[in-house]
Amino acid sequence: MLDKIEEAGSDKRTFYEMLGGEPKATEVIRDLVETFYDIMDTDSKVASLRAMHPKDLTGAREKLFMFLTGWTGGPQLYMERYGHPRLRARHLPFNIDESARDQWMYCMIQAMHRLEFEEDLMIKLGTQLHGVADFMRNQEPVG
Ligand code: HEM
Repeated sequence: MLDKIEEAGSDKRTFYEMLGGEPKATEVIRDLVETFYDIMDTDSKVASLRAMHPKDLTGAREKLFMFLTGWTGGPQLYMERYGHPRLRARHLPFNIDESARDQWMYCMIQAMHRLEFEEDLMIKLGTQLHGVADFMRNQEPVG
């Protein structure tokens, strides 16, 4: 019976918990963000996404790490430092179309593969992040 209760409750785990909780999840999110930007920085398939970013990715790495820590259900590092993310507004200066969104997701999926994320987690996290990435779009598809 207890098992059943725990099992039912387990559906409500946050991504932060699924990633190992404190302190493991922090390390995993750090690795994920580092790998994500390393891919963005080197894979020619995402050259146009890379070109939108500053030459030095240090700030972007730090901010995405802080944001994702809170977004997954961990400490609200980004909010504490910068206030509400207003993510869509902050992305308005960049022309984000389907291609930019897909390049962003490509980097994220590749990073999760490289870090050998469990398939179930990869699908769940990938689906949620795709929703956020799609929400960032500010350019209508052409045609
Ligand atoms: C859909 C395609 C996306 C593109 C093309 C894009 C592009 C960018 C660019 C060019 C910056 C500025 C980097 C800098 O100045 O160092 C940025 C910042 C940021 N992005 Fe994205 N992004 C995308 C999706 C996302 C998603 C899905 C998330 C979150 C899950 C995200 C989170 C952030 C955060 C937290 C920042 C820092 C904001 C700040 O300045 O405080 N982005 N993004």
